Amino acid sequence: MSNYEMMDYIRCGNSGLKLPRMALGAWYSFSENDDYENMRALVKTAFENGITYFDLANNYGPQVGAAEINFGKILKQDFAGRRNELLIATKAGHKMWEGPYGDGGSRKYLLSSLEESLKRLDIDYIDIFYHHRYDPETPIMETMLALKTMVDSGKVLYAGISKYPLSAVKEALQIAKEIRLPLIVGQYKVSMLVQDVFENGVYDELRNNGIGISAFSSLSMGLLTDKYLHGIPEGSRMDKDSRFLKKESLTPQLIEALNKLDVIAKRRQQTLAQLALTWVLSKDVECIILGASKPSQILDNLKAIRSPRLTPEELTEIEGILSEL
Ligand SMILES: NC(=O)c1ccc[n+]([C@@H]2O[C@H](COP(=O)([O-])OP(=O)(O)OC[C@H]3O[C@@H](n4cnc5c(N)ncnc54)[C@H](OP(=O)(O)O)[C@@H]3O)[C@@H](O)[C@H]2O)c1
Repeated sequence: MSNYEMMDYIRCGNSGLKLPRMALGAWYSFSENDDYENMRALVKTAFENGITYFDLANNYGPQVGAAEINFGKILKQDFAGRRNELLIATKAGHKMWEGPYGDGGSRKYLLSSLEESLKRLDIDYIDIFYHHRYDPETPIMETMLALKTMVDSGKVLYAGISKYPLSAVKEALQIAKEIRLPLIVGQYKVSMLVQDVFENGVYDELRNNGIGISAFSSLSMGLLTDKYLHGIPEGSRMDKDSRFLKKESLTPQLIEALNKLDVIAKRRQQTLAQLALTWVLSKDVECIILGASKPSQILDNLKAIRSPRLTPEELTEIEGILSEL
């Protein structure tokens, strides 16, 4: 079976672009302190199993920029001549460099950042350029026009937004229509533990306007896997770097809920990670951006794509467990 036969590719909203059901993100595992051979194995395992979309950002590191540099090296070494088989996304919007022009949503920041990302990755174009977060200090029109300039220059094919609140999504989509910007995707945190997007109107707004959704942290950075069922294991993200995955978040109630979810997973002959991903797939998002520290995790997670969908009874049972948190 070819790598492409192993994956489902879904049209991103109303656009012509097809996204794989799962992508690989480089927020973690691609820093300057990580093992380069492991990074290569992650990217190669992903691609060999049909993952064509790789999700980066200017600031993924540490040091900021390291993930793009490492991914660029892997492209050269292992994907020479295959650039057009890959979807490479990057972003700008969080702090990247010192001073007033290295953060936010200004034209100055975004256009400079794109040039730097292209250099680090050593490629000619980016497939999807996301504005990484809403910047209340910059008019959305300015940000959207900066994205349009990128697209018109041929250096970016499609635009995306990430973590925009509902009012900003509405304005961005309206402007995108006016200026004919191919804004095709919104990137949001979606997991059994974080369901805001369904509650705050963002999901419906994107769906009703034919915009695709790429989901991130669908395993809650690893919490929704079997590794935290009995505490914090050595070498896990929470153990090594708890900047974003705080040790305090692993409460006794959460451990109890995770164990109950694991019972459902086992009943379905799934791992807890697969159950968590099956749940996100049941919510009709085009693509889940996976994080991974080992190639075996990618293989484990991909199995969710071919797993039986959750029944209404199972979904109710899961909601019951989550409602106790
Ligand atoms: N737009 C944004 O603002 C934004 C924000 C965050 C992320 N993202 C994107 O989304 C991507 C994924 O985010 P994330 O890393 O938070 O995703 P995640 O899928 O929720 O968590 C990934 C982590 O879970 C653990 N894991 C994964 N599969 C496992 C398995 N089968 N069994 C046991 N443990 C497993 C690994 O951590 P261990 O180290 O513990 O093994 C892995 O690094 C990022 O790389 C980035 O591209 C975007």
